[in-house]
Amino acid sequence: MKYKNGQYHIENINAEKIVRKFGTPSYIYSYDKIKENINNFKKNFKSIKPIICFSVKSNANLQILKIIKSFGLGADVVSKGELMIALKAGIKPDKIVFSGVGKTTKELKFAIDRKIFLINAESESEILEIEKLAKSKNIKVKIGIRLNPDTDANTISKISTGKKENKFGVNLQTFIKILNKYKGSNYIKMSCLSVHIGSQITSHKPFQKMLSIVKKSIQKSNHSFEYIDLGGGMGIKYSHKDKKLNYKIYCKLIEKFLKSFNSRIIFEPGRSIIGNAGVIISRIIYIKQTPKIDFIIMDAAMNDLIRPALYGTNHSIIPLHKKKTRISKKYEFVGPICETTDKFMLTKSYQKLKQNDYLIICDVGAYGMVLSSNYNLRPKAVEILVKNSKLKIIKKRQSITDII
Ligand code: LLP
Repeated sequence: MKYKNGQYHIENINAEKIVRKFGTPSYIYSYDKIKENINNFKKNFKSIKPIICFSVKSNANLQILKIIKSFGLGADVVSKGELMIALKAGIKPDKIVFSGVGKTTKELKFAIDRKIFLINAESESEILEIEKLAKSKNIKVKIGIRLNPDTDANTISKISTGKKENKFGVNLQTFIKILNKYKGSNYIKMSCLSVHIGSQITSHKPFQKMLSIVKKSIQKSNHSFEYIDLGGGMGIKYSHKDKKLNYKIYCKLIEKFLKSFNSRIIFEPGRSIIGNAGVIISRIIYIKQTPKIDFIIMDAAMNDLIRPALYGTNHSIIPLHKKKTRISKKYEFVGPICETTDKFMLTKSYQKLKQNDYLIICDVGAYGMVLSSNYNLRPKAVEILVKNSKLKIIKKRQSITDII
C-alpha cells in the first residue's frame, strides 16, 4: 500500500480505479499485507512455536477469515456468532478458543457440542455452568481459567483489560480456589491459564510485568498447565509518533518464562494481523470554510469507523492523489453524521483539497468494519479484497432498503 507517481496504490492497483468501480466509502484490504503480517508474527515467535488463534472480534469478514485459516491460524472467538463464522471459514474446532465474560448456557453448549479446543472461563459461575453441561453429557471439558493479573497495560484506558477494576478474569485468590475445587473433577480439565491485559500495547514492559505475575501465580497455585494463553494486544503504528512493540524482547521474555514451565503458548492476536491491512477510501462531499478552520466533510463517518469517536484515537488520513506542495491551513476532517464526535482528524498543514477529492483513512483493518453501525440509517460500506492484482467484493455494500 503505497504511492506510485503520486497515486495511492493497493498492491498494484491504483486506488482511484477501485473507487471509480465500487464507489465510496469503501473498505479495501490487501491480501499481501495480511500474508506479510502473519509471516512476520510467526517469524517473531518462531522459537516458542505458539498456537496462534486470530481474534475474530477484530475482523469477522468470512473471506478474511478464510485467508487467515489458509495460513494455519486458529481462531479466538467471543460469541456463538463468531464461533459459527470461524467454523464456516473452515477453521477446525480443535483450533478455536472461546473467551468472554458472559457466555450464555446456549453458547457454552454449542461450543462443547462442537468439541472446540478450549473454553477460557472468566468466573466461578461460568465454570459451574460448564461443569453442569459436561456432567449432563458425561464428558470432560477442557477449560482455561482467565487470570486478572492487575497489570496496567499502559494503553488507551478504554481498552485496558487486566486491572483489578476491569470485569475480566478472576483474581489470584479466586484462581487458586477454583484450581483446588476442580482438581479432581470428572467433568472439568483445567488445561490452560489465560491472560490478556489490553490492546494496542507498544511497549514490552506491561507484557514483562504480566509474565512475572503469571509466573508467580502458577508457582503459588502448584498446578501445571498444558497451555498458557497470553492473549493478544500487540500494538501497531498508527502514526510515526507511535512506538513499535519490540517483538524480539517480548519473545525473549517468553523464552525465559518457559524455562520454568513445560507449557505451550497460545496467542490471540487481532490488530497485529489485520490492522494495517485495511483502509477506507472516502470522497469529500463538501468543504465548509469558516474564519478559523475549513471542515472537510467526508462521506465516511463515525458509523463506518468509530474508533476516533469512541476512544479519541487517531487514524492518518492521506490524499489519494498526492501533491508536492502543502499549505498552512487548519483542516478538520469530519463525517456527515449529526454528532459533534463525528470527526477524524485535525491538521495545521495539508495539501490543498477540493470537493470530490478522495481520501484514504489508514489502518482500519482491525476494529473498523466490525464496530460499524447503521447510525443515522447509513448503509454499511462495501468490503473489497485486493489479491494478485484482482479486486473481489468480500461483503456487499448495504442498500438503504436492506436496512429499512
Ligand atoms: N484476546 C482477548 C481476550 C481480547 O479481549 C482481545 C481484544 C484480543 C485477544 C485481541 O487483541 P488485539 O491483538 O487485537 O489487541 N475495539 C478496540 C480494541 C478492543 C480489544 C478487545 N479485546 C479498538 O478499536 O482499539
